[in-house]
Amino acid sequence: MAKKLFIKTYGCQMNVYDSARMADVLAPLGYAKTETPDDADMVIINTCHIREKAAEKVFSELGQWRLRKQEARQAGGEVTIAVAGCVAQAEGEEIIARAPFVDLVVGPQAYHRLPELLAQAERSRAKKTGRGRGILDTEFPVESKFDHLPEQVATPPGPVGFLAIQEGCDKFCTFCVVPYTRGAEYSRPAAAVIAEAERLIAAGAREIALLGQNVNAWHGEGPDGATWSLGRLLRELNERHPDLRWRYTTSHPREMDDDLIAAHGELPGLMPFLHLPVQSGSDSILRAMNRGHRAEDYLRIVEKLRAARPDIALSSDFITGFPGESDRDFEATLQLVRDVGFASAYSFKYSARPGTPGSLMPNQVSDAVSSERLYALQALLQEQATAFNKASLGRELEVLFDRPGKHAGQLLGRSPYMQSVVVNEPGLEIGDRALVTVTGASANSLSGEIAGQREAA
Ligand code: 5AD
Ligand code: SF4
Repeated sequence: MAKKLFIKTYGCQMNVYDSARMADVLAPLGYAKTETPDDADMVIINTCHIREKAAEKVFSELGQWRLRKQEARQAGGEVTIAVAGCVAQAEGEEIIARAPFVDLVVGPQAYHRLPELLAQAERSRAKKTGRGRGILDTEFPVESKFDHLPEQVATPPGPVGFLAIQEGCDKFCTFCVVPYTRGAEYSRPAAAVIAEAERLIAAGAREIALLGQNVNAWHGEGPDGATWSLGRLLRELNERHPDLRWRYTTSHPREMDDDLIAAHGELPGLMPFLHLPVQSGSDSILRAMNRGHRAEDYLRIVEKLRAARPDIALSSDFITGFPGESDRDFEATLQLVRDVGFASAYSFKYSARPGTPGSLMPNQVSDAVSSERLYALQALLQEQATAFNKASLGRELEVLFDRPGKHAGQLLGRSPYMQSVVVNEPGLEIGDRALVTVTGASANSLSGEIAGQREAA
């Protein structure tokens, strides 16, 4: 009988990708994914370490799994508990010490070794009558996990497939843990990316998001022997599959080269949306953050993107209360937001992460001031998101439906501009792409009715 694997994923889309690949790694061992935690034989908690609360959530989640494991044992069974992702990488030893019922801890670069680790955990459990010490693998192995992951897609990806093309980061922004948890920048070869895209499409993907912590730093040898950049790769993918919708995330302003910008004007399959984190609008804060660009550079990139693709929707990440941020610095951030006009954005209060240079900076900003700035920034961003969505009223947008809505009969999808669109239409199915006339708009979503002939999945 198939064993049931439940994966709880926190954090970014890279974690969503990793979760799918962990399921692929475990499939040959007889594990099939389940969406219900109650009947799981194994659980993987795939964690995020980017901000404080994420790690706290992991420990509280683990408490619940401890109870489930006890219940299973009382019934003569077993639940294997694994912790993966960036908290596993950064705090593996602490997890094993604080939560000894955890069977194994595996970092983001080592999960291709899950079958081996699982066997070790089982041996350790058998030897010590169920009280073995957890197995820890948070190495950065010399071999790339990508060369050892199975080629099969064990669970169909659904209409939107995630494809990691780049991982890790050498940028060392002074607030960020990613260079420590994910390791050095690595790009997969073009041929491996193209092959994985083909497999996702064959398994049903109608849109593919290329992923990487610095996705636009991707570079690799193309089939022609030349070194390709992301713009070139997107051209190839779009040419092979002109009907597919392509996206990429997350980008760094320093890597936004002219060829990639031009691709936005030339490739119909490349969606008119870009998530381009800027973090702050103040040059002195950008310097302290080690971002390697000024506010003006960001504005110039936006100008070029809009010249190439006038309707491109922009999104960003912001941090308020980075050490040393003055009222004037914060005002510069608000000004940049006014100058750009974002369709959507994420904004966070600065959180001092252990081991990062930012956490050692002397001029930390108080929580009250960081919060106040966050609310002011979010009010402005919310206003812009609402205005952007309201401008869609009455328009026809092509929506790819990828998930059920909250109420029976509703489906949710994404517009080309990444807006969530809800439609109530009998017969509509997940995976359908349809033109929708927008009839309602709020800060976070659109609603509408099917406009034209539906194109079946
Ligand atoms: N504090 C607050 N926000 C952070 N981010 C990354 N590190 C921190 C931190 N220490 C935010 C950045 C990044 C996004 C993924 O998370 O804005 O772009
Ligand atoms: Fe973190 Fe900066 Fe690297 Fe992005 S570019 S992952 S924010 S260090």
